[in-house]
Amino acid sequence: MRRRKILGLAIGVVFIASPAFAQQPTAEVLHWWTSGGEAKALKVIHDRFVAEGGKWVDNPVAGGGGDAAETVAKTRILGGKPPTVMQWHLGLSLQQLAQAGLLGDVDAVAAKEHWDALLPPLIAENAKVGGKYVAIPVDIHGENWLWTNAKVFAAAGVAVPTTWDEFDAAAAKIKAAGYIPLAVGGQDWQETIIFADVVLGVGGPDFFDAALVRLEDAALESPTMLEVFAELVKIRGMMDPGAGNRSWNETTNLVITGKAAMQFMGDWAKGEFSAAGMKPGVDFGCALAPGSGDAYSIAADSFAVPRVADPDQRAGQLLMAHVVMEPETQRDFSFAKGSVPPRKDVPLDGFDQCSRIAMNILRQSPHLLPSLGSGMAVPLAQGGAISDTIAAFFASPMSPESAARALRAAVAAAR
Ligand code: GAL
Repeated sequence: MRRRKILGLAIGVVFIASPAFAQQPTAEVLHWWTSGGEAKALKVIHDRFVAEGGKWVDNPVAGGGGDAAETVAKTRILGGKPPTVMQWHLGLSLQQLAQAGLLGDVDAVAAKEHWDALLPPLIAENAKVGGKYVAIPVDIHGENWLWTNAKVFAAAGVAVPTTWDEFDAAAAKIKAAGYIPLAVGGQDWQETIIFADVVLGVGGPDFFDAALVRLEDAALESPTMLEVFAELVKIRGMMDPGAGNRSWNETTNLVITGKAAMQFMGDWAKGEFSAAGMKPGVDFGCALAPGSGDAYSIAADSFAVPRVADPDQRAGQLLMAHVVMEPETQRDFSFAKGSVPPRKDVPLDGFDQCSRIAMNILRQSPHLLPSLGSGMAVPLAQGGAISDTIAAFFASPMSPESAARALRAAVAAAR
């Protein structure tokens, strides 16, 4: 019975796609979900896509944060051989691709399945260009999270910090107890997440908005930005000798294995703790980064749909749109990934305390912010200028004054 229903849906989707020519909905899926938790989450989509009649051609391009994958995807599109769907952050760079005429759309499915009513406006608006869905929303993540190892905190006799002063004091005690206080992955996008977390925690949401969304000179080189960099100087001093170019999930693994106490990272880190069999509130802790209050910096993944001519691929895009938005897919994907489902009607049952923090904030907070690290807040050029400056700061003894000046200058040069 169930099988017949599934088949019916698949046929329905193929029919919308191309009644005469489609043989089998086929999707070459370009993505960067290669860590333990990420691979488990992607398998949820894969299995349902295949069960509903699709052929999946996997194309992983490793590299957390997605810079490598996004570059490969753009090269493929410009070379006239686009993948069928490609992992992409919702936000400005997606809009740029669509405005350049490089994307198709999945409106046939979106309209039939009422996406406008099912998605929060922030997600729907970011997935659409010119009123059409150019991307299929997969998840909602937040970037201002602090991940902690419960045993290490107990051994050092400290509580999870909620302010930057508490954070500095806890880090000193943890170090004295023989652990790495903060696990840092020395890659620009990871350091940019730490920077954005400190901007939000030290300056608050209005300052975050002025500095990292509106890119105001007066905010970029301001006394508050000097305070931000003063905290980052302390964080830079906590980096262990292995930090250079360490991937985000290897960095999370230091916290999982109890070598390090804390990591600032988006909630995809929870996927790694879960894949390692650890329980939130028991083995590890999830808290918003110090000083976040009720502010949440959002990063959302999607599958963007390039323009494709092949009918099987076109059918693949539409079947993918249907499969990814099914409530069970959204729920099971988020369980493994650490994210929250974009669909508003997925029941809360089974979601852990970390997801509930995220869901409550997403429902109630007046301070939902676009993330810097995932390109939601600013155009690609300025985002790159900021992350280059932050990488240079972490790789040298740069002072807060020089860093704030360099930041303002880099953003100005990229305008
Ligand atoms: C982010 C992406 C997440 C996550 C992370 C690490 O850019 O939005 O889904 O998996 O990279 O690879």
